Amino acid sequence: MQRCLTLTFARHSKLLLRNTFASVHCQQSAAMSGLLINQPKYSWLKELGLSEDNPGVYNGSWGGSGEVITSYCPANNEPIARVTQATLAEYEETVQKTREAWKVWADIPAPKRGEIVRQIGDALRKKIKVLGSLVSLEMGKIYVEGVGEVQEYVDVCDYAVGLSRMIGGPILPSERPGHALLEQWNPVGLVGIITAFNFPVAVYGWNNAIALTCGNVCLWKGAPTTPLTSVAVTKIVAEVLEQNNLPGAICSMTCGGADIGTAMAKDERVDLLSFTGSTHVGKLVAMMVQERFGRKLLELGGNNAIIVFEDADLNLVVPSAVFASVGTAGQRCTTTRRLMLHESVHDTVVERLIKAYKQVRIGDPWDPSTLYGPLHTKQAVDQYLAAIEQAKQQGGTIVCGGKVMDRPGNYVEPTIITGLAHNASIVQTETFVPILYVLKFKTEEEAFAWNNEVKQGLSSSIFTKDMGRVFRWLGPKGSDCGIVNVNIPTSGAEIGGAFGGEKHTGGGRESGSDSWKQYMRRSTCTINYSKDLPLAQGIKFE
Ligand code: UN1
Repeated sequence: MQRCLTLTFARHSKLLLRNTFASVHCQQSAAMSGLLINQPKYSWLKELGLSEDNPGVYNGSWGGSGEVITSYCPANNEPIARVTQATLAEYEETVQKTREAWKVWADIPAPKRGEIVRQIGDALRKKIKVLGSLVSLEMGKIYVEGVGEVQEYVDVCDYAVGLSRMIGGPILPSERPGHALLEQWNPVGLVGIITAFNFPVAVYGWNNAIALTCGNVCLWKGAPTTPLTSVAVTKIVAEVLEQNNLPGAICSMTCGGADIGTAMAKDERVDLLSFTGSTHVGKLVAMMVQERFGRKLLELGGNNAIIVFEDADLNLVVPSAVFASVGTAGQRCTTTRRLMLHESVHDTVVERLIKAYKQVRIGDPWDPSTLYGPLHTKQAVDQYLAAIEQAKQQGGTIVCGGKVMDRPGNYVEPTIITGLAHNASIVQTETFVPILYVLKFKTEEEAFAWNNEVKQGLSSSIFTKDMGRVFRWLGPKGSDCGIVNVNIPTSGAEIGGAFGGEKHTGGGRESGSDSWKQYMRRSTCTINYSKDLPLAQGIKFE
């Protein structure tokens, strides 16, 4: 069964497939059987309000009259159901309705907005298993990971409820008598959210829960290859808004490809654009937003390393490396792509890893015993093969995996490659597949330098018991990433911390800590409550 791919935006990037910005239009062969949604085995999809044909626009009412896209299951490449995307005219109408809805939402006190977000969290809790199953079916990640990312949305809702009573700015000492100096935080307005296929629920959730609590309205464009998940999530959120007699357009959605993405990036009415995807497309988006002096929040590529020192607890190292490199079939932006092993433990760790890789249970992602499922698309399989070829040409040895699997769906063997130079171009490239490059190092200085020499700066981790080394790693000459771990993997961050990274990862921070500040604008306010007009810096202007 051949699937064809048309990229309508920036056709040369290898990383585009992960990206929601590329319009991916796939046609199935005429011989294809009916939609999975019509088979009794998948009748649970109807519990999410899905049907054969689904409207891909929500702005208080459901619509969509653009291109019809079919969503395919990566585990067997069978069509699940169809979604009708937004036209540019429907995008325009949606932006107008979303901005109208802001007038209502911004007047609601923050703790009351928090109460709505609490209800969204509860509604997600009720559907967590069925929504997690859809993520597994449509994205291809294993069931527990599908449920896990709905859990991230639930958790960030809980976090945002607390935040709704805590957002605030300081009152600062004024140098002038009879004056108050304080900070006021206000919502930016409309937050545009463009998300990627690999976390089709959680990344929207981080943005949505925090943006709403801060008093913003949201307009979401999910990945063109996970449109059913976007529709199902929006139905859950819309029901909560409608039950509370609030305008549904507080959380709008326009399914679409590059045309909708470009419109969002160029639109002055989108006050903040939060974009998750490849570095290549992220740069194009960032430039369009900058052109209009708009705000952006970028979550782009990673090339994450685990560094294992001679004193590391190898019983932690091996399962950590397996989880972070094989988990989600290597399709997290936090996936471990480089494993740096001290020369004294190199051979032992490689041997133990190969053994562990061979025990990874490969199968249908929704089978509870499976640990490893398919890649999201056939194009990702081609990228996997191309990366293996390049690694071989650059001096790498495949010590585990390296082949496409002979079964339906986009399955490839999780792969370990040794013997490459730390600065080989393939090692410096983020290929969004389960290939782990193992590098051998001698000194701490060398390992820290290799960690930092890649363009990306998302996640990083060391395994050691040396406290001095731990603090050097956290300090100014240590890791330059946004996520800096010790004795845990690079992936699997909690929602309570700020999530994001430096350099070509884009610099944005989402989810916990003070990430909320990215969704608000700060006013510095000076209030004179005296009868005099003293000037700052003691200036006399008389
Ligand atoms: C992503 O891959 O885009 O830390 C997000 C993690 C997850 C989020 C990953 N909580 O791996």
